Amino acid sequence: MADQLIIALAGATGDIGGRIARALVARGATVRALVRPDLPERDAVRLRQAGAAPVPADPDDVFAMAEAVAGASCVVSALNGVRAVMIGRQGVLLDASVRAGVPRSNPSDFAADFTKTRPGHNRNYDLRREFMARVDAVPIRATSILNGAFMDMLGAEMPIIRTGIHRVLYWHNADQILDFTTKDDTADYTAAAALDDTAPRFLRIAGDSVSVRDIAATMSSLAGKRYRPLWAGNLASLGVMIRIAKLIAPQPDAAFPPWQGMQYMRDQFAGSARLTPIENDRYAGLTWTSVREHLSTLKEHLQ
Ligand SMILES: NC(=O)c1ccc[n+]([C@@H]2O[C@H](COP(=O)([O-])OP(=O)(O)OC[C@H]3O[C@@H](n4cnc5c(N)ncnc54)[C@H](OP(=O)(O)O)[C@@H]3O)[C@@H](O)[C@H]2O)c1
Repeated sequence: MADQLIIALAGATGDIGGRIARALVARGATVRALVRPDLPERDAVRLRQAGAAPVPADPDDVFAMAEAVAGASCVVSALNGVRAVMIGRQGVLLDASVRAGVPRSNPSDFAADFTKTRPGHNRNYDLRREFMARVDAVPIRATSILNGAFMDMLGAEMPIIRTGIHRVLYWHNADQILDFTTKDDTADYTAAAALDDTAPRFLRIAGDSVSVRDIAATMSSLAGKRYRPLWAGNLASLGVMIRIAKLIAPQPDAAFPPWQGMQYMRDQFAGSARLTPIENDRYAGLTWTSVREHLSTLKEHLQ
């Protein structure tokens, strides 16, 4: 019998997983962090300090994993990787959840709307679609959280804001709306969804939806210097850059090689992965960080 307040969490040692663990604990959940049997003690201590209970289980052993998730109402995955993880390891987790009779399961999707994009155009979205088909073929109720790009990456890993020349790069269209949500806002929402017995198959959220022209205007007002959009090329030239980057640095085992980042950019600027309908209001008491609030914290951008 599943206990509504017990959530099993894979990937709790990671960035988003750690945030989800803390958000679940704050909501009164009992969090079982599914960890590798050889987890270093310092990481176990960190999980306990966050209020989660480390539960060791071999990630390749469906029987051990079924024992570890038994009794949970939902198994949340915040795992990260390419095929071996997103299909292989998440597949073991899914099979174990079904075997243990766990009623709900939330895959590690945390992306823009990959259900709408063209197959073959974005490696990580293709993997998510492949896993989606697998999830939908087994007797478990799944919920995927789709959040667009993590806003935390704007001004960091997503280097479109060029402070040296006061420009914000865009491809194709400076007015294309892009969806952003912070990691913490996504984690809070994911925790609420994990505890929601009626959560639907997809929940789409966006802390803010802005264009590059909007970002330039926000940077101008925050920095007191005029920022302008700067055309970096069209979608076809971005496609050429992706092919060249793949040839020069294929890094097939990396989750986010440079070409993968460019594939995300292409889908964002094509508008093909836009999030709609947005369900930010489904859970009471959540707050949403705006792009302006986020950028105002990036002191180095504003000097
Ligand atoms: N929308 C966006 O802008 C955006 C940006 C970044 C990430 N994401 C997504 O958010 C989710 C979580 O990402 P994250 O950055 O929090 O992940 P992370 O910290 O890199 O890793 C999460 C966990 O995945 C497992 N893992 C990582 N690399 C692995 C590997 N090579 N082989 C096997 N297991 C591996 C580890 O769990 P164990 O310790 O148990 O092995 C790790 O703690 C992923 O779905 C990712 O694609 C979205």
